[in-house]
Amino acid sequence: MTSDNVVDLRSDTVTKPTPAMREAMASAEVGDDVFAGDPTINRLQERVAELLGKEAAIYVPSGSMANQTAIRAQTQPGEEIIVHEDGHIYHYEGGAPAGLSGCSLRLLPGERGQFTADDVRAAIRPPDSHYPLTSLIVIENTHNRGGGSIWDIKEIARIRAVADEHGLKMHLDGARLMNACVAKGAKPTDYTKYFDTVSICFSKGLGAPVGSAVASTEATIRRVHRFRKMFGGGMRQGGIIAAGALYALEHHVDRLVEDHANARRLAEALAGMPAGSIEVDSVETNIVYFNVDASAGTAKALCDRLFEAGVWMLPIGPQRVRAVTHLDVEAAGIDRAIEVLERTLGAPAAR
Ligand SMILES: Cc1ncc(COP(=O)(O)O)c(C=O)c1O
Repeated sequence: MTSDNVVDLRSDTVTKPTPAMREAMASAEVGDDVFAGDPTINRLQERVAELLGKEAAIYVPSGSMANQTAIRAQTQPGEEIIVHEDGHIYHYEGGAPAGLSGCSLRLLPGERGQFTADDVRAAIRPPDSHYPLTSLIVIENTHNRGGGSIWDIKEIARIRAVADEHGLKMHLDGARLMNACVAKGAKPTDYTKYFDTVSICFSKGLGAPVGSAVASTEATIRRVHRFRKMFGGGMRQGGIIAAGALYALEHHVDRLVEDHANARRLAEALAGMPAGSIEVDSVETNIVYFNVDASAGTAKALCDRLFEAGVWMLPIGPQRVRAVTHLDVEAAGIDRAIEVLERTLGAPAAR
């Protein structure tokens, strides 16, 4: 099976640049960005700073580097970062907060990747030299392991007030911030105004092949620039990929509603399948988590069967599966996924 006739729902990172995006990339003006001389990267950085309501922004190769340079720029070794126990920086960035910044993580529980201002207040360490110094709070919006959930802006505002009382910084892992904005009809600044640093990814739902950015004050971005170099992320004629990111910001934001509608339709269909279970209302954006009843086998066995039929999803627990909608899956792909799922999980009694 070639990748062209596969419905690949493993992640929204699997998208390939469209012909128009490739054209924009092929004709991008480039220069040496380590000397700040790449006009396309400079344009992207200005655009991102404006979009996120910050003084400056910097283009980096990945979402992990965006988060980790922002963390390094705002912490000292021995300090502690408050983050949700399902956070991306905790699970999926190779232990980087410890490895690159020398920080420990204080993990908070909470439904769907979210915690409250009271949880934060209770987790802040007293000013006693026995303890690590709490210095940063990281919030992920939308929350990946939380099922693409969207943070309540009012709770973020309450957390900001606690952070201010204690002199803490706040970082937003906004890999999928635009999904939250489109789903809620919110402006990026409705969220970003509460944060000292914000990361955003172009190669998730936005469909560019490479890259992320960090936005903040000019002084903080100067520090992020230093750590980008230290971590090996200084790129030279990076404008060729930054052009894909600029194209994505221009053309692929509003269409995220289609991904959300596709995810919702998949969730509604799964709810009717006897051997599947899902909380349909938990699907707010483009990420769908569902459980497979043991009578239908394991999540891995289901995904193996789906794989053979050209519908790719990820088993992420013994009975739990993840499917993510994106630019390269149209409504017809969702029809096909539903049809193939019904062969294992059963069709609804009546339609
Ligand atoms: C919420 C979140 N943050 C950060 C990242 C890291 O992005 P990258 O894979 O580009 O390092 C991801 C990747 O999927 C993510 O889902």
